[in-house]
Amino acid sequence: MGLFSDKQNLLSKIAINEGHGENSPYFDGWKAYDSNPFHPTKNPGGVIQMGLAENQLCFDLITEWIKEHPEASICTNEGADEFKDIAIFQDYHGLPAFRNAIAKFMGIVRGNKVTFDPNNIVMSGGATGAAETISFCLADPGDAFLVPSPYYPAFDRDIRWRTGVQLVPVTCESSNCFTLSLTALEAAYKKAQEAGIKVKGLFINNPSNPLGTILDRKTLTGIVRFINEKNIHLVCDEIYAATVFSQPDFISISEILEEEVECNRNLVHILYSLSKDMGLPGFRVGIIYSYNKQVILCARKMSSFGLVSTQTQHLIASLLSDDGFVERFITESAKRLAFRHKTLTGGLSLIGISSLKSNAGLFFWMDLRRLLKEPTEEAEMKLWRIIINEVKLNVSPGSSFHCSEPGWFRVCFANMDDKTMEVALQRIRQFVLQDKAVEVPVKKQKWKNNLRLSFSSLKCEDTMMTPRVMTPNSPLPHSPLVRAV
Ligand SMILES: Cc1ncc(COP(=O)(O)O)c(C=O)c1O
Repeated sequence: MGLFSDKQNLLSKIAINEGHGENSPYFDGWKAYDSNPFHPTKNPGGVIQMGLAENQLCFDLITEWIKEHPEASICTNEGADEFKDIAIFQDYHGLPAFRNAIAKFMGIVRGNKVTFDPNNIVMSGGATGAAETISFCLADPGDAFLVPSPYYPAFDRDIRWRTGVQLVPVTCESSNCFTLSLTALEAAYKKAQEAGIKVKGLFINNPSNPLGTILDRKTLTGIVRFINEKNIHLVCDEIYAATVFSQPDFISISEILEEEVECNRNLVHILYSLSKDMGLPGFRVGIIYSYNKQVILCARKMSSFGLVSTQTQHLIASLLSDDGFVERFITESAKRLAFRHKTLTGGLSLIGISSLKSNAGLFFWMDLRRLLKEPTEEAEMKLWRIIINEVKLNVSPGSSFHCSEPGWFRVCFANMDDKTMEVALQRIRQFVLQDKAVEVPVKKQKWKNNLRLSFSSLKCEDTMMTPRVMTPNSPLPHSPLVRAV
């Protein structure tokens, strides 16, 4: 009691500020899920979690591999002889076998078009730790990174909270299919400068969370030229690199660097993790890959605060060194993601709900603008409350991703089994067809006479188509941000 009433005096500014972000309305959805989670038999009326970007579609493949390779773990008869060496290893460079395997995997995931030097790899506690570390390395308190919006909500925590660095959004809009335009980049840079803010870099996430889209070669080349011209850093969070499930192929910034002779490579840094591509967020395997030796040295010193446990490094080194497994896993994962994406977006489009065309990620960007009474954030939150309280689905409102246009929602599709997905789809179907929505304009579609609603054309027509395990250090017993995905 005393601690909380006097906290203004007793604790640090960081301890008591709101920078962590867990008090935002976005996380009410997680709390709603936590207090009433769906279960097919025990709680069929519960909330279905579609706000969690986890990749649970290929656990069978990893489980099978683990059973076939008991020697890869130090906790089995076959692997226990390595226990002592692994237990005492504490070099913050990481196990050589681990760094080699990660470097190779990063190349495979990027279609073997580029190679990565294991010496440029720095470990971190997930991409979360990687983002904060790179922020500490590149910017001082008050400096800023440009970040295209909508963007992953926890960037506010990871890049800003403890570093004191600012984020300046570069607004991307539906009229342009939310693609990043160089005009918007220039405008955001200029605006920041006029406000006296020192821009130290551009922070991009490719493929994008929440959009599920990838950046094309022209945009990436333009970005590289932009950061060179301004002499600012470019941080590319490529955590969803292997979730690309259909054409066009993913293009990593590393590929562009091979082509762009004019680029100062010292300005470029890649963040990576196994949380999404392999579906292993609990392992906390995060990576900073920098082309800048000074940044590597600095990040490595800082990595002492977020190393990957050697037990995990040991297992991952074996897993990723198995070429046959890696190939099978990547191919199968893409296939399963594609199927999920198609089933859900296709099912929604049959009832007139469109989504931004996408080919990557563990989610899609659903367009419910027509269901809003008015184009405001309040109306979006009102609709979101209906969806969570009545339809019992936890999807995430666009405002939590700093989307400039109300009415967009992120829908995650890879954290549940097929049956749960069917229930989710059925609930949305019922919701829309029973006309529970707020004053929806009704228009019959000629090609489907059993449908009642149509959410008609957009300018960008052809492109339309949480959890319970806590760590001891979790800030709240049911803090959603523990898995802010
Ligand atoms: C774009 C993006 N970056 C980083 C992270 C954090 O990932 P990790 O679990 O590796 O810390 C996430 C998690 O959702 C994410 O979506």
